[in-house]
Amino acid sequence: MAKGEGSGLDNERKAQVSIDGASIDLPVLSPTLGTDVIDIGALTSNGYFTYDPGFVSTASCNSSITYIDGDEGVLLHRGYPIEQLAEQSDHLELCHLLLHGKLPNAAEKTAFVNEITSRRAVSPAIEAMVQQFSAGAHPMGIMTALMGALAAEEHAGIDITNDDDRQRVCRDLIAKVPTLAAITYRQGKGMKFLPPRDDLNYAENFLYMTFAEDEDYEINPVIARAMDRIFMLHADHEQNASTSTVRLAGSTGTNPYAAIAAGVAALWGPSHGGANEGVLNMLDEIGSVDNIDTYVGKAKDRDDPFRVMGFGHRVYKNYDPRAKVMQDTCHEVLNERGVQDNETLKMAQALEKIALEDEYFVEKRLYPNVDFFSGVTLKAVGIPVEMFTAIFTLGRTPGWIAHWDEMVGEAYKIGRPRQLYLGETRRDFVPIDQRS
Ligand code: SDX
Repeated sequence: MAKGEGSGLDNERKAQVSIDGASIDLPVLSPTLGTDVIDIGALTSNGYFTYDPGFVSTASCNSSITYIDGDEGVLLHRGYPIEQLAEQSDHLELCHLLLHGKLPNAAEKTAFVNEITSRRAVSPAIEAMVQQFSAGAHPMGIMTALMGALAAEEHAGIDITNDDDRQRVCRDLIAKVPTLAAITYRQGKGMKFLPPRDDLNYAENFLYMTFAEDEDYEINPVIARAMDRIFMLHADHEQNASTSTVRLAGSTGTNPYAAIAAGVAALWGPSHGGANEGVLNMLDEIGSVDNIDTYVGKAKDRDDPFRVMGFGHRVYKNYDPRAKVMQDTCHEVLNERGVQDNETLKMAQALEKIALEDEYFVEKRLYPNVDFFSGVTLKAVGIPVEMFTAIFTLGRTPGWIAHWDEMVGEAYKIGRPRQLYLGETRRDFVPIDQRS
């Protein structure tokens, strides 16, 4: 992909909007890669807003972190293709890349990994808080609460205008989110919590803190590598709903842990990060390959709210490059687990084949997204379905905090969208004894 001729925020090109005979010039800004944008600021001073429910056509900010080409199925993190990163790099290297714009050299990587390792433990107050939840509490509600608790515990002394302070917060969040996920899982299982082990890498330590009965727990290197790759595949995805939530919350100058808590809450939704849990629940509901045609029919029925979870995407109108890597990882995990004829995977593959050949899905350009095979993979690892989106949270935290840091590290304005008002015009109050 050739580097574009993007001139960024200074451009001579203009778009013209003509309304009731008046013409308004709007600057056209060109990116390094991707779609030109029209700076609509001048519309307001001419008495107009734009209208774009769901932000389908709106660039909310400028960013240099991640680029997605939905038609070509391209995902670049600071210019590097996700396929190459997933194959040759690891999650903490990717975290460094997202935060600092470069792959770390050996010394930088050692220092970064050591700092993350040193920050894994959470306070007794956080551990005590998670133990207040009932066994049936949903892990994403717990993760949202725990991120808020970190905001409370860590608030004193954070200066978001200080680069070093922001970096400390970024690394602290990357270090602690696996611990939050692990204690959330163990609370649900009634298991005592284990302290982090500094001799294990990021993914190994997560598996240990989550599943180990004791210090003798044996790490499966294939499973650990698969988990590390799953974290990478979820790390960042430009201005998706949860990242946009983090940016909007962060634009008020709020505590960064609190801004991430808002992102966790947004990710939980079944249209977003909750889709991986939704895929498994859907496959359980379908029950057998024999029922797939019926459910594909329901998905095509506009009067039926049923959707094929893990299919479709706002941006990818071709395949999601993460889905292919995830499918390969799924096969690796199933082979390692000695699971050849996994009924759930068979149903997923049958559903994928039917959907990709069905004209409804072809015409609407609906392809498997990252969530479609991640659920089958996580289930094979031994992660319970209700924990799937907590794993997504673990992977996406570096992306969220990198976008927060990118925004807060430069001049920024509080996000304050306007609206198309369709309510009542002005009317006087009516005393209760005069109301119908
Ligand atoms: C993630 O934004 C990101 O980058 C997100 C993400 C990330 O890494 O952050 O990639 C992670 O959230 C992936 C998406 C996970 N969600 C799902 O798998 C849930 C199922 N998918 C859909 O809900 C839907 O495809 C969305 C929400 C993902 C995208 O919705 P859009 O872009 O708003 O598209 P739409 O809802 O307007 O759908 C367009 C048409 C509609 O039909 P018509 O009204 O035109 O007749 O396609 C249909 C929809 O009904 N459609 C589906 C469908 N997805 C869209 N029909 C059946 N099954 C589906 N899954």
